[in-house]
Amino acid sequence: MKYLFGNWKLYLGHTESVTLAQGIAKLSVPSEVQVAVFPPAVSIPSVAWALQGTSVALGAQHCDWAPQGAYTGAVSAAILKEVGCRYALIGHSERRHIFGETDAMVRKELEVCLEAGITPVLCIGETKEDKENEKREYRLKKQLFTALSEVNLNGGKIMIAYEPVWAIGSGEPCLPADVDDVHGWIQLEVKQYGLTDIPVLYGGSVTPLNVVSYGTLPTVAGVLVGSASTNVEGLSALATGLHSVSSV
Ligand code: PGA
Repeated sequence: MKYLFGNWKLYLGHTESVTLAQGIAKLSVPSEVQVAVFPPAVSIPSVAWALQGTSVALGAQHCDWAPQGAYTGAVSAAILKEVGCRYALIGHSERRHIFGETDAMVRKELEVCLEAGITPVLCIGETKEDKENEKREYRLKKQLFTALSEVNLNGGKIMIAYEPVWAIGSGEPCLPADVDDVHGWIQLEVKQYGLTDIPVLYGGSVTPLNVVSYGTLPTVAGVLVGSASTNVEGLSALATGLHSVSSV
C-alpha cells in the first residue's frame, strides 16, 4: 500500500475544489493506493460531500492548536474531525516560513489532532541554507524532538512527510537516493520516541514523471504532492504510477 496525498494549498477557488473532487470521485482509484486530498479549510465539507462513497480520504492543510472558545479565526481539530477529516498536515514548510509557526506551535497542533482522533502528518524539512551548511540532520532532529518527545499517541498514529524546503514548488526534487537515506535515518531517529513503522512520505516537486522513482523505494510510504495534484489528470497519473509499484 502506498499513500498519495494531494495538498491543494491555495491554488483553487471553492467551486474549483468541488469540481476537482467530483472529477476525482469518478476515477477508479486502485485499492493499493490510499488517496487523500487536502483542500482549503472552507471547502472541506463540500469536498467531503463530493467524495462520499469513494475510498478517497480527506485532510486539512493546517490545524490550529486552540481547542474551543475565544480564538477568533481559529479552526480546531474537533471541527476538522466533525467535517470528515482523517488527516491534517502539521507544520508544513509554508506554515512555518510564511505564517511564522514555531516548532512549539507545531507540537501543540500535533497533540490536539491526536486528541481529536485525526492522524497528524508531521511535515519536516531543511532549508537550502541548512543544506549548504550541512545542517540537514540538525534541523530534522530539532523538528522531530520538539514534535515527538514524550508524545502520547492516544491510541492513534502519526505520519511524517519529509519535504526539503528547497524542493517544494521548485521543480528541483530531492534525488531518490538521498530521500532513501533520509527516510531510513528518520525511522531510526523516531525509535527513541518509542515510534516504529511510522509511514514516511516524500514531498517536493513530485510529478507523474518522477513518482515511480520515489514510490519504488521501500523507505517511501507514499508522496505528498502539491501543484501536480490539483487537476484530475495529474492525480490520476500519480495514482497509476504508485499503483505500478505498490507491491514493493
Ligand atoms: P509541490 O508541493 O509538489 O508543489 O512541490 C509539495 C508540498 O508542499 O506539499
